[in-house]
Amino acid sequence: MTTTDGMPQVHTMRRGAPDRLPLVLLHGFPLDHRMWLDVVDLLTGDPTVLGVDLPGFGASPSGPDAAQALGAAADPSLEVVADAVAAALRGQGVDRAVVAGLSLGGYVAMALVERHPDLVAGLGLVDTKSTADTEEARAKRLEIARTVTAEMRVDAVLGMRTALLGTTNRVGRPDLTERLELWIRDQGPAAIAWVQEAMAARPDRTHVLAGYQGPAVVVVGEEDEIAPVAAAQHMVDALTDAELVVVPAVGHMSSNESPEPVASALRNLLARAEAGASAGAAAGGERTGN
Ligand code: MLT
Repeated sequence: MTTTDGMPQVHTMRRGAPDRLPLVLLHGFPLDHRMWLDVVDLLTGDPTVLGVDLPGFGASPSGPDAAQALGAAADPSLEVVADAVAAALRGQGVDRAVVAGLSLGGYVAMALVERHPDLVAGLGLVDTKSTADTEEARAKRLEIARTVTAEMRVDAVLGMRTALLGTTNRVGRPDLTERLELWIRDQGPAAIAWVQEAMAARPDRTHVLAGYQGPAVVVVGEEDEIAPVAAAQHMVDALTDAELVVVPAVGHMSSNESPEPVASALRNLLARAEAGASAGAAAGGERTGN
């Protein structure tokens, strides 16, 4: 998709009724919007759902192209990713939405809260964390970025097909390992390198959560080793109005390892955000005497 001035725009998959408060889903690394479809299939009540392909992934333009379309610096950054997502949503007439992201998607959701607060009517943080990388984690990301760029292959991140799963499902769910491998192989090395550098540069956004007043849910797989339960609890403690959902016997891909509780958590979040929007509209009506 392109903007009216011909610039490439972030790709979104749209499903459901056209006129509801939308649920925007942001995927993890190194995947695309398809990782959310198990959850989307369980979202009863026909909600409006927008599954985003973040820059470089799925059918979206690359990070540098997204930066150019925004007139931003080309340096890899999650700020550019968040601004590109906000521009794509506004381009589709979406000024307010419930935003939920898994891991990388959660980092982007938190950047959206910081940079586009009016857009976020509800916040879903799934298997993610608000803290920045340690020096060691940052060095590892930059090493992976160098390797995929030099090899022009995604092999350096293929180990994630099992590492993303919980210990229970690493052996018990070969179907999930296969799907993750398929999705990872569909992504390009340039996108993987660009986003690794962007994630390495991200700041701690715990203070952003502390300033966010809307409804939130934090979901975490009990066996998540990448964004563990303690990281989820840290975000809940910072937020004003957050529920914590710990999904038993799953790892980092709770959306695919056990989609039912994730769908249920997001349905509840949508209902809370919709109730808040109706209460706000009613109060506005009373004030204006309508
Ligand atoms: C993800 O699932 O998006 C990644 O594990 C995020 C990260 O590498 O921090």
